[in-house]
Amino acid sequence: MPQTILITGGAGFIGSNLIRYILEERDERVINLDALTYAGNLESLADLRGNPRYEFVHADICEPDKYAEALGRADCVLHLAAESHVDRSIHDPSAFLHTNIVGTQLLLDAWRRKENPGRFVYVSTDEVYGTLPLEPTSLKFTEQTPLSPNSPYAVSKTGGDMLARAYHHTYGLDTVITRCSNNFGPYQFPEKVIPLFVNNLIEGKPVPLYGEGKNVRDWLHVLDHCEAICAVLDKGGTGEAYNIGGDNERSNLELTRMLLDLCGRDESFIKRVPDRLGHDLRYAIDASKIRDELGWRPTRSAWPDALEATVEWYKQNRTWCDHVRSGEYRRFYEQNYGPGA
Ligand code: NAD
Ligand code: DAU
Repeated sequence: MPQTILITGGAGFIGSNLIRYILEERDERVINLDALTYAGNLESLADLRGNPRYEFVHADICEPDKYAEALGRADCVLHLAAESHVDRSIHDPSAFLHTNIVGTQLLLDAWRRKENPGRFVYVSTDEVYGTLPLEPTSLKFTEQTPLSPNSPYAVSKTGGDMLARAYHHTYGLDTVITRCSNNFGPYQFPEKVIPLFVNNLIEGKPVPLYGEGKNVRDWLHVLDHCEAICAVLDKGGTGEAYNIGGDNERSNLELTRMLLDLCGRDESFIKRVPDRLGHDLRYAIDASKIRDELGWRPTRSAWPDALEATVEWYKQNRTWCDHVRSGEYRRFYEQNYGPGA
């Protein structure tokens, strides 16, 4: 009989892509456990309502009593729920520490107390390693790189990451950690650089480029990330951590120029704005461990084609974008799951 996977944060960008990926490519049932913060958008999964293999549970990971029953029915956990935006964490870190550290601890505790808990995958981030210099380009994060998080967001993710490690070491829980680079693709909340810039350019507005635009990120298509998470779920070593990346490093200025080109705008649309506080200069991932040990490699991330397809998705899905920008998306839950729905 197919297993049941509990996915936390399934109404977010990566979670919604992951749920669709699992339902299309695999045979498990999925329970989506999500608090529906500003970043949770059930419109991204509107087509799955009524799917017998999909279920939504509205709960906060910080309130274990509210999801004990759902946890009891799950065979394994993919833990993605988090406050995820670096700029928000700089403005106010408190929700980040609460959800990403305390929430992860409460979820881990609830999971380990259950009978025969299965695998628990903690979806961490490359930001736990801190930052790299621009040169030498051969220097990349490996799983042995000391953790050195720089932003409140990165600290909070490092706390969750280390808790997952500790619950394996201390209680023997079957935890595995993934540390991925920047994702791009459909259904990303337009506070993150790619959907923010694309939506602005489509609407004829300027794009706010931080500082000189020299910071470098390693971009991976979200479905390649989903495939890697599933490879770790299936074949990852217990207690291990796996880097995930696309070997696709771009400066923000290079990315911005590609987006201008794809949206038919010129450089007058770039608005230079003050730099992010403590802005990490460069992230670069050495993904040889997951490649060599689990046989995973990215197949959907090559630019310019994958970036062009993503821009096209935002051009074609104006209703989804407009509802996010106007706040209309927050009414979807009430309208479709509330009393009388
Ligand atoms: P997102 O902000 O788009 O989605 C987060 C989801 O978590 C939302 O649906 C939100 O409602 C839910 N959530 C937040 N707090 C919650 C709580 N207390 N209880 C239950 N649900 C809650 O984030 P994303 O970009 O999809 O990232 C998902 C995970 O992947 C995060 O853990 C993030 O740290 C990690 N990650 C993201 C990237 C990236 O490039 N986006 C890269 C590497 C790792
Ligand atoms: O590396 C993985 C991380 O990638 C994830 O853990 C985070 O959850 C995810 O948000 C992302 O973090 P970043 O800070 O790298 O992503 P963001 O889209 O916010 O910014 C990408 C780069 O673009 C960064 O160098 C800052 C710059 N930027 C961002 C925004 C929002 C701008 O120049 N202007 C902007 O308006």
